[in-house]
Amino acid sequence: RGLLHKQLAGERVIVVSNREPYFHLRKGDRVEVHRPASGLVTAVEPVMRACSGTWVAHGSGSADRETVDRHDRVRVPPDKPEYTLRRIWLTEEEEKGYYYGFANEGLWPLCHIAHVRPVFRTSDWEQYVRINQRFADAVVREADSEDPVVLVQDYHFALLPGMIRKALPKATIITFWHIPWPNPESFGICPWRKELLTGMLGSTILGFHTPYHCKNFLETVDRYLETRIEHESSTVFRRGQLTMVESYPISIQWPPPWQGTLPPVEQTREEILHELGLPPDHLLGIGVDRMDYTKGIPERFAAVERMFELHPEMAGRFTFVQIAAPSRSVLEEYQTFANRVHGMAERINARFARNGSPAIILKAEHHEPEEVNRYYRAAQVCMVTSLHDGMNLVAKEYVAAREDEQGVLVLSQFTGAAHELHEALIVNPYHVEQTAEALYQALTMPEYEQKERMRSMRALVRDFNVYRWAGRMLLDAARVRQRERLAMRIG
Ligand code: F6P
Repeated sequence: RGLLHKQLAGERVIVVSNREPYFHLRKGDRVEVHRPASGLVTAVEPVMRACSGTWVAHGSGSADRETVDRHDRVRVPPDKPEYTLRRIWLTEEEEKGYYYGFANEGLWPLCHIAHVRPVFRTSDWEQYVRINQRFADAVVREADSEDPVVLVQDYHFALLPGMIRKALPKATIITFWHIPWPNPESFGICPWRKELLTGMLGSTILGFHTPYHCKNFLETVDRYLETRIEHESSTVFRRGQLTMVESYPISIQWPPPWQGTLPPVEQTREEILHELGLPPDHLLGIGVDRMDYTKGIPERFAAVERMFELHPEMAGRFTFVQIAAPSRSVLEEYQTFANRVHGMAERINARFARNGSPAIILKAEHHEPEEVNRYYRAAQVCMVTSLHDGMNLVAKEYVAAREDEQGVLVLSQFTGAAHELHEALIVNPYHVEQTAEALYQALTMPEYEQKERMRSMRALVRDFNVYRWAGRMLLDAARVRQRERLAMRIG
């Protein structure tokens, strides 16, 4: 954090994302502050606190407008203000086209291999272009110099780097793509592939979670645009603009914000079991996701069911708690998915609940991060079974929560996190038997082995924390700028 401060000394930093870090809800005559279930927010918020700039985001809470001044700005976090949140308001129609439509029915399934067909509508695309321009205009208004540092987040804003570059040619634009990047054939079905790629190449630095996503991106650019790519330095040259494409595995804050504020792990476990009406020696598993078809929740439930079939003595001794925050529920695909998840939980409970101990407890509602952390600490095993995921920060959060060096992580091989957390039990979530056996192995793993694995994963998350993620991107951006300056002098 200190290093980040130093790197940014005197710089004007603007972050842009669709999701806001805090949203406000009206409950009767009270206004409540919440934090969204978002990996992006988990990662970027501590960076923003460290560099106190301006965060531009879409105002999404029912009472958000009640909390801003007349310039649509608010200082956050609400209890200890450290930076400025500038909200952009969208109409229902704009949100439908830009966010639900092009971003979430088009780009989201396009980039994730989860066997859901992308939908591309011209009307959605037009809103996407309009809203990207609206955010670009807001960034330009927020910038009080000609060369601000702008951190663009995610697939909602593929066009933004190009738009900002046009208005502020000297800006340092660091774009991070939080989801996977597919191969050129898959990406090629998007009718606006050239526009998206061109927009992204307005960035100084373009970051992905893994080298594999970078490779896919460079191959896509090579296939569909006229550019020069220098593979040794992973740099794309296009119309006088240089973009460095690099992998920056995202992470979380370290030390974790709850360290020292929550009761000891043992006590938390007792409390949670009591709250759930389960006996003190009961075994718990935890899954924490948005209710999203990429997260492999049905595959996880199928593995829990299979584990009970293979090891019937576990029925009545083990309960799997699934926290599933409602997400994008306006979309039919998401409604159908949520119904399927609820149906599965009911069916499995009908088979394997014993003496008041359910097989699965499905908590399909929003939980604040502090509450989620209590569950991490109470659970012997955390299951992350995404069918495809850029990184998956739940995996890292679970590890960070276990200061007792106990607990086992079962982790899908299709997450970015699996490239780093080698001591997890790595599974293919499409393989039900294998995942079920990993779950059983986790529940019966000796303490010394849990300790060994957890200790090593904790060291990795501690060393490669979110400040390092941001710091590396900023350092690389400084290098690219230097290189551009020298190239111009020579030219
Ligand atoms: O990681 C992809 C992402 O869109 C992030 O921006 C965010 O963390 C998460 O998914 C949540 O999605 P949404 O903002 O649509 O609720």
